[in-house]
Amino acid sequence: MSVDTTQAPTTHKALLEWVSEVAALTEPDSIYWCDGSQEEYDRLGAELVAAGTAIRLNEDKKKNSYYFASDPDDVARVEDRTFICSQNEADAGPTNNWRDPAEMKATLTELYRGCMHGRTMYVIPFCMGPIDAEDPTFGVEISDSAYVAMSMRIMTRMGKAPLEAMTKGGDRAFVPCLHSVGYPLEPGQADVAWPCNTEKYIVHFPEDRAIWSYGSGYGGNALLGKKCYSLRIASVMARDEGWLAEHMLILKLTSPAGKVYHIAGAFPSACGKTNLAMIEPTLPGWKAETLGDDIAWMRFDEEGYLRAVNPENGFFGVAPGTGESSNPNAMKTINIGNSIFTNVARTLDGDVWWEGMTDEKPAELIDWKGNPWTPASGTKAAHPNSRFTTPMEQAPTLGAEWNDGKGVRIDAILFGGRRATTVPLVTETSDWAHGVFMGATCSSETTAAATGAVGVVRRDPMAMLPFIGYNAGDYIQHWLDMPSLHENAHMPKVFYVNWFRKSADGKFLWPGFGDNSRVLAWIVGRLEGTADAARTPIGYVPTLDAIDRTGIEDEVDDATMAEVLKVDTEEWQRELPLIKEWFTKLGERLPQQLWSDLDQLKAALEA
Ligand code: GDP
Ligand code: PGA
Ligand code: MN
Ligand code: MN
Repeated sequence: MSVDTTQAPTTHKALLEWVSEVAALTEPDSIYWCDGSQEEYDRLGAELVAAGTAIRLNEDKKKNSYYFASDPDDVARVEDRTFICSQNEADAGPTNNWRDPAEMKATLTELYRGCMHGRTMYVIPFCMGPIDAEDPTFGVEISDSAYVAMSMRIMTRMGKAPLEAMTKGGDRAFVPCLHSVGYPLEPGQADVAWPCNTEKYIVHFPEDRAIWSYGSGYGGNALLGKKCYSLRIASVMARDEGWLAEHMLILKLTSPAGKVYHIAGAFPSACGKTNLAMIEPTLPGWKAETLGDDIAWMRFDEEGYLRAVNPENGFFGVAPGTGESSNPNAMKTINIGNSIFTNVARTLDGDVWWEGMTDEKPAELIDWKGNPWTPASGTKAAHPNSRFTTPMEQAPTLGAEWNDGKGVRIDAILFGGRRATTVPLVTETSDWAHGVFMGATCSSETTAAATGAVGVVRRDPMAMLPFIGYNAGDYIQHWLDMPSLHENAHMPKVFYVNWFRKSADGKFLWPGFGDNSRVLAWIVGRLEGTADAARTPIGYVPTLDAIDRTGIEDEVDDATMAEVLKVDTEEWQRELPLIKEWFTKLGERLPQQLWSDLDQLKAALEA
């Protein structure tokens, strides 16, 4: 099949050629150019409902919203099937899977051959970040999934507007993102509700700035603007161009005195970014506004401050644990409707439910696998990585700057993870280089956001382990180099947080969620030079009363607070060999500086 260029809604030469080439290879029944309109979204939704892939939710509960259940084996990112295909293996580094790019292209080309038989090929033009930015960042995803087309409309600026902007002042560059579920339909063959393939490939060609994905329909594997482009490919662009593409939320915080701060925070998947981005502070007088919940692109402005932009347009949030008490702002956002729910449970009256949405479990549900469910079933009704996909614009906490291509100045960066032991609630690092050391040694228990075992502690540098598009040693070097990339760099202060420390009997010691505002207030206090801290071998930690506990004194008494803040020398000494093992794995491209930082930590713990 070739593209009828008189019918195509663009004159972009490279795009038309690429669309033609892909159509000739994948042989779809038809080609459809997405315009991103409401009418189109409604039509695709109706088609998916008719095909048995989607269920339309009750209009009175969730207006204009759809429910999808994936194949039970297609529920998360597949890190073991994710590849960085740089020319040289060393450039992908020890933390990524690598294949020779020519070999990988040959393998995938055979898989793509005829893979869209019986399907529509959607051409999905999109822009990451505001379209009117100085230098807009375009992509085009070709996909045979209408679920992907609908989701991309929520998650990115998608359709006619970016397509038109792509030819303003000449043809602009775009990242080609090819996606197929890998489930062709031969004549007479009936479709399944969630087509996918047991063989999956999530492939990046960093030098070509291209993405090829095959076999999965799950968000992180299939919505290629997100992890694949805005993190893996963008991290390579950022290294080359002197900026940072990071797995970070962006929060605007206004203190009771009316001072505005912007905080970026990197926590691994399913470790609290979306919740912190939408926080409802429990500390009186503080106001929080959401600017981003997953990805931040940070560049120096002329004066040498790092400014962050969120390239996304929607939230792809973890559903379980999201409820009126934990994240009321996310509930308000999704209750407006216009959302997609994947692998959650359904109520009998056409709404959705998941663990943690309400304190009391509904008496009867249909679980994410489509089976009748009651609280006595003894299983989770929603998959632990079930997700809501919802427009950013609906967030009641949305900050005015969310659509500003200039971004906001970042005052503090938080690194964090999920650690039941060892890591205190909050630690301030002494300077940028120390912050890089803490970020590079960050660790977290694995979650259901990726396939594989859950709850295993692994090192996750800057929460970017699965998303660094190049050699992790070079990535850490790039972080160290940042202050030298502007003649007058003002680097943000770096903090290390852990909301997830547990008592010996396995209960969270810190209430978290809205009460994390108390930690944010301490962080701002440190920026202003007013909050108390004690020097420990790992950095500055709040003194017992430095964090405001007004209203939660009973829940977090002095003993609990001491436990939450404790820097236990023995626990930290047990980290040292793990960090050493991690640095050894990173190999020769790990900056030497990190080894001397480790020696310093060791010496401080012995002192
Ligand atoms: P993200 O994937 O990094 O955006 O993480 P989310 O904000 O979606 O949270 C992932 C899971 O961690 C959800 O089940 C949340 O309810 C839970 N969570 C988020 N913040 C906190 C917190 O402060 N304390 C505790 N105990 N759980 C949290
Ligand atoms: P998350 O985003 O960080 O909000 O979980 C999806 C992912 O990282 O897989
Ligand atoms: Mn993420
Ligand atoms: Mn999130």
